Amino acid sequence: MIGDIVGKGGRNTLNILLPKIISEHEIDYVIAQGENSAGGFGITKKTSRQIFNSGVNVITSGNHIWDKSDIFEDLEKFNSKILRPMNYPKEKPGTGLYVDENIAVINLIGSVWMGKIDSPFNQIESILSQIPSMPIFLDFHAEATSEKAALAWHLDGRITALVGTHTHVATLDNKILPNGTAFVSDLGMVGAKDSILGMDKDASIARFFNGDKRRMKPVEEGKMIFNSVAIEYDKTATNASKIYRIDQEIHI
Ligand SMILES: [Fe+2]
Ligand SMILES: [Fe+2]
Repeated sequence: MIGDIVGKGGRNTLNILLPKIISEHEIDYVIAQGENSAGGFGITKKTSRQIFNSGVNVITSGNHIWDKSDIFEDLEKFNSKILRPMNYPKEKPGTGLYVDENIAVINLIGSVWMGKIDSPFNQIESILSQIPSMPIFLDFHAEATSEKAALAWHLDGRITALVGTHTHVATLDNKILPNGTAFVSDLGMVGAKDSILGMDKDASIARFFNGDKRRMKPVEEGKMIFNSVAIEYDKTATNASKIYRIDQEIHI
Protein backbone atom coordinates (compact mmCIF):
# COMPACT_ATOMS: atom_id res chain seq x y z
CA MET A 1 0.00 0.00 0.00
CA ILE A 2 1.52 3.27 -1.20
CA GLY A 3 1.12 6.79 0.23
CA ASP A 4 -0.25 9.87 -1.53
CA ILE A 5 1.35 10.23 -4.98
CA VAL A 6 2.03 13.95 -5.43
CA GLY A 7 2.05 15.42 -8.94
CA LYS A 8 4.17 14.50 -11.92
CA GLY A 9 7.28 13.98 -9.79
CA GLY A 10 5.40 11.46 -7.67
CA ARG A 11 4.01 9.68 -10.73
CA ASN A 12 7.47 9.46 -12.32
CA THR A 13 9.00 8.17 -9.09
CA LEU A 14 6.29 5.51 -8.86
CA ASN A 15 6.89 4.50 -12.45
CA ILE A 16 10.63 4.10 -11.89
CA LEU A 17 10.53 2.28 -8.54
CA LEU A 18 7.35 0.21 -8.37
CA PRO A 19 8.05 -2.52 -10.96
CA LYS A 20 11.33 -3.41 -9.21
CA ILE A 21 9.71 -3.39 -5.76
CA ILE A 22 6.90 -5.65 -7.00
CA SER A 23 9.35 -8.27 -8.25
CA GLU A 24 11.84 -7.99 -5.37
CA HIS A 25 9.19 -8.30 -2.66
CA GLU A 26 6.92 -10.68 -4.63
CA ILE A 27 3.95 -8.36 -4.31
CA ASP A 28 0.59 -9.76 -5.51
CA TYR A 29 -1.51 -6.66 -5.17
CA VAL A 30 -0.82 -2.92 -5.04
CA ILE A 31 -3.12 -0.26 -3.60
CA ALA A 32 -2.06 3.39 -3.92
CA GLN A 33 -3.37 6.80 -2.86
CA GLY A 34 -4.01 8.95 -5.92
CA GLU A 35 -5.77 12.05 -4.59
CA ASN A 36 -2.83 14.39 -5.27
CA SER A 37 -1.62 12.88 -8.52
CA ALA A 38 -2.94 15.65 -10.82
CA GLY A 39 -0.88 18.78 -10.09
CA GLY A 40 -1.20 18.10 -6.36
CA PHE A 41 -4.97 18.51 -6.41
CA GLY A 42 -7.19 15.63 -7.46
CA ILE A 43 -6.84 12.86 -9.99
CA THR A 44 -7.63 12.69 -13.71
CA LYS A 45 -8.11 9.96 -16.31
CA LYS A 46 -4.54 10.58 -17.48
CA THR A 47 -2.90 10.41 -14.03
CA SER A 48 -4.91 7.34 -13.01
CA ARG A 49 -3.86 5.57 -16.23
CA GLN A 50 -0.20 6.34 -15.46
CA ILE A 51 -0.59 5.00 -11.93
CA PHE A 52 -2.23 1.77 -13.15
CA ASN A 53 0.46 1.39 -15.83
CA SER A 54 3.14 1.53 -13.13
CA GLY A 55 1.68 -1.62 -11.55
CA VAL A 56 -1.03 -0.38 -9.20
CA ASN A 57 -4.23 -2.49 -9.00
CA VAL A 58 -6.57 -0.22 -7.03
CA ILE A 59 -6.41 3.56 -6.44
CA THR A 60 -7.88 5.12 -3.30
CA SER A 61 -8.45 8.81 -2.62
CA GLY A 62 -9.47 11.37 -0.04
CA ASN A 63 -10.50 14.98 0.43
CA HIS A 64 -9.00 16.03 -2.93
CA ILE A 65 -11.09 13.60 -4.98
CA TRP A 66 -13.58 16.31 -5.99
CA ASP A 67 -10.90 18.77 -7.24
CA LYS A 68 -10.97 17.57 -10.88
CA SER A 69 -14.30 16.51 -12.39
CA ASP A 70 -12.55 14.72 -15.27
CA ILE A 71 -12.39 11.58 -13.10
CA PHE A 72 -16.07 11.47 -12.05
CA GLU A 73 -17.09 9.34 -15.04
CA ASP A 74 -14.48 6.71 -14.14
CA LEU A 75 -15.62 6.69 -10.50
CA GLU A 76 -19.11 5.74 -11.71
CA LYS A 77 -17.97 2.77 -13.80
CA PHE A 78 -19.11 -0.70 -12.71
CA ASN A 79 -16.74 -2.08 -10.06
CA SER A 80 -14.44 0.91 -10.52
CA LYS A 81 -10.84 0.43 -9.40
CA ILE A 82 -10.70 4.09 -8.41
CA LEU A 83 -12.38 4.70 -5.06
CA ARG A 84 -13.62 7.77 -3.26
CA PRO A 85 -14.18 7.78 0.50
CA MET A 86 -17.38 5.81 1.19
CA ASN A 87 -18.61 8.19 3.90
CA TYR A 88 -18.94 11.19 1.59
CA PRO A 89 -22.61 11.75 0.65
CA LYS A 90 -24.21 9.01 -1.44
CA GLU A 91 -25.19 11.53 -4.15
CA LYS A 92 -21.52 12.15 -4.95
CA PRO A 93 -20.07 10.06 -7.82
CA GLY A 94 -18.54 6.65 -7.21
CA THR A 95 -18.14 4.31 -4.28
CA GLY A 96 -15.66 3.53 -1.53
CA LEU A 97 -15.70 -0.25 -1.85
CA TYR A 98 -14.00 -2.50 -4.39
CA VAL A 99 -14.33 -6.30 -4.26
CA ASP A 100 -12.94 -8.95 -6.61
CA GLU A 101 -12.21 -12.65 -6.16
CA ASN A 102 -8.94 -11.92 -4.30
CA ILE A 103 -9.38 -8.88 -2.11
CA ALA A 104 -11.70 -6.15 -0.88
CA VAL A 105 -10.59 -2.53 -0.63
CA ILE A 106 -12.42 0.05 1.47
CA ASN A 107 -11.77 3.81 1.39
CA LEU A 108 -12.99 6.01 4.25
CA ILE A 109 -12.28 9.58 5.34
CA GLY A 110 -11.82 10.79 8.92
CA SER A 111 -14.19 13.03 10.81
CA VAL A 112 -11.57 15.11 12.65
CA TRP A 113 -10.52 18.32 10.81
CA MET A 114 -11.79 16.96 7.48
CA GLY A 115 -15.01 18.96 7.12
CA LYS A 116 -18.50 17.86 8.02
CA ILE A 117 -18.64 14.13 7.33
CA ASP A 118 -20.65 11.10 8.42
CA SER A 119 -18.69 9.27 11.07
CA PRO A 120 -16.71 6.42 9.51
CA PHE A 121 -17.37 4.49 12.73
CA ASN A 122 -21.12 4.56 12.02
CA GLN A 123 -20.73 3.35 8.44
CA ILE A 124 -18.20 0.56 8.80
CA GLU A 125 -20.67 -2.13 9.96
CA SER A 126 -22.89 -1.79 6.91
CA ILE A 127 -19.82 -1.80 4.61
CA LEU A 128 -18.35 -4.94 6.22
CA SER A 129 -21.74 -6.70 5.99
CA GLN A 130 -21.42 -6.50 2.17
CA ILE A 131 -18.06 -8.33 2.10
CA PRO A 132 -17.57 -12.11 2.45
CA SER A 133 -14.74 -13.55 4.54
CA MET A 134 -11.66 -12.56 2.54
CA PRO A 135 -8.63 -10.26 2.74
CA ILE A 136 -9.91 -6.71 3.39
CA PHE A 137 -7.72 -3.60 3.12
CA LEU A 138 -8.87 -0.21 4.40
CA ASP A 139 -7.32 3.13 3.46
CA PHE A 140 -8.41 5.51 6.21
CA HIS A 141 -7.72 9.01 4.92
CA ALA A 142 -7.58 11.04 8.11
CA GLU A 143 -5.71 13.81 9.92
CA ALA A 144 -5.78 12.63 13.52
CA THR A 145 -3.54 9.73 14.57
CA SER A 146 -5.98 9.04 17.43
CA GLU A 147 -8.91 8.53 15.03
CA LYS A 148 -6.82 6.21 12.83
CA ALA A 149 -5.65 4.10 15.79
CA ALA A 150 -9.18 4.00 17.23
CA LEU A 151 -10.70 2.64 14.02
CA ALA A 152 -7.88 0.09 13.66
CA TRP A 153 -8.36 -1.20 17.22
CA HIS A 154 -12.14 -1.19 16.77
CA LEU A 155 -11.76 -3.42 13.69
CA ASP A 156 -8.92 -5.61 14.95
CA GLY A 157 -9.43 -9.17 13.73
CA ARG A 158 -12.16 -8.24 11.25
CA ILE A 159 -10.06 -6.71 8.49
CA THR A 160 -6.59 -7.57 7.15
CA ALA A 161 -5.12 -4.08 7.32
CA LEU A 162 -5.96 -0.49 8.14
CA VAL A 163 -3.48 2.07 6.86
CA GLY A 164 -3.71 5.80 7.38
CA THR A 165 -3.11 8.35 4.65
CA HIS A 166 -3.48 12.15 4.21
CA THR A 167 -0.68 13.65 6.32
CA HIS A 168 1.99 12.77 3.69
CA VAL A 169 4.31 11.95 6.61
CA ALA A 170 5.38 8.32 7.04
CA THR A 171 5.06 6.90 10.55
CA LEU A 172 7.02 4.08 12.16
CA ASP A 173 4.21 2.55 14.23
CA ASN A 174 3.51 -0.30 11.79
CA LYS A 175 2.42 -3.40 13.75
CA ILE A 176 0.08 -6.37 13.81
CA LEU A 177 -2.66 -5.87 16.40
CA PRO A 178 -3.43 -8.83 18.74
CA ASN A 179 -6.27 -10.24 16.62
CA GLY A 180 -4.39 -10.05 13.32
CA THR A 181 -5.10 -6.65 11.75
CA ALA A 182 -2.06 -4.86 10.30
CA PHE A 183 -1.89 -1.16 11.11
CA VAL A 184 0.17 1.94 10.41
CA SER A 185 -0.90 5.52 11.21
CA ASP A 186 0.33 6.95 7.93
CA LEU A 187 1.90 5.54 4.78
CA GLY A 188 3.54 8.87 3.88
CA MET A 189 3.83 10.00 0.26
CA VAL A 190 5.53 9.62 -3.08
CA GLY A 191 6.84 13.10 -3.71
CA ALA A 192 9.69 15.56 -3.34
CA LYS A 193 11.90 15.37 -0.27
CA ASP A 194 12.75 19.09 -0.21
CA SER A 195 9.15 20.23 -0.07
CA ILE A 196 6.22 20.79 2.25
CA LEU A 197 3.99 17.71 1.81
CA GLY A 198 5.29 17.40 -1.75
CA MET A 199 4.48 21.02 -2.64
CA ASP A 200 6.68 24.05 -3.30
CA LYS A 201 8.07 25.36 0.00
CA ASP A 202 7.90 29.09 -0.72
CA ALA A 203 4.19 29.15 -1.56
CA SER A 204 3.43 27.16 1.56
CA ILE A 205 5.58 29.36 3.83
CA ALA A 206 3.95 32.51 2.41
CA ARG A 207 0.53 31.18 3.40
CA PHE A 208 1.58 30.85 7.00
CA PHE A 209 3.28 34.28 7.08
CA ASN A 210 0.56 36.45 5.67
CA GLY A 211 -2.26 34.33 4.27
CA ASP A 212 -0.87 34.75 0.73
CA LYS A 213 -2.94 32.35 -1.37
CA ARG A 214 -0.50 31.97 -4.24
CA ARG A 215 -0.94 28.80 -6.24
CA MET A 216 0.65 25.75 -4.69
CA LYS A 217 2.64 23.59 -7.09
CA PRO A 218 4.15 20.15 -6.57
CA VAL A 219 7.94 19.89 -6.79
CA GLU A 220 8.63 17.77 -9.88
CA GLU A 221 12.32 16.97 -9.73
CA GLY A 222 15.26 16.54 -7.40
CA LYS A 223 15.32 14.20 -4.42
CA MET A 224 12.12 12.12 -4.31
CA ILE A 225 10.84 9.82 -1.60
CA PHE A 226 8.69 6.72 -2.02
CA ASN A 227 6.77 5.62 1.10
CA SER A 228 4.81 2.40 1.37
CA VAL A 229 4.20 -0.68 3.47
CA ALA A 230 4.11 -4.33 2.44
CA ILE A 231 1.64 -6.60 4.19
CA GLU A 232 1.84 -10.39 4.31
CA TYR A 233 -1.58 -11.93 4.71
CA ASP A 234 -3.61 -15.13 4.65
CA LYS A 235 -5.31 -15.30 1.25
CA THR A 236 -8.22 -17.34 2.60
CA ALA A 237 -9.03 -15.26 5.68
CA THR A 238 -8.88 -11.69 6.99
CA ASN A 239 -5.69 -11.63 9.01
CA ALA A 240 -2.18 -10.38 8.37
CA SER A 241 1.06 -11.93 9.62
CA LYS A 242 3.52 -9.13 8.89
CA ILE A 243 3.65 -5.44 7.99
CA TYR A 244 6.90 -3.74 7.11
CA ARG A 245 7.88 -0.44 5.54
CA ILE A 246 9.35 -0.10 2.06
CA ASP A 247 10.74 3.42 1.84
CA GLN A 248 13.12 4.50 -0.88
CA GLU A 249 14.74 7.64 -2.27
CA ILE A 250 15.82 8.53 -5.77
CA HIS A 251 16.96 11.59 -7.66
CA ILE A 252 15.06 12.51 -10.81
FE1 LIG B 1 -2.92 13.86 0.16
FE1 LIG C 1 -5.84 14.34 1.83
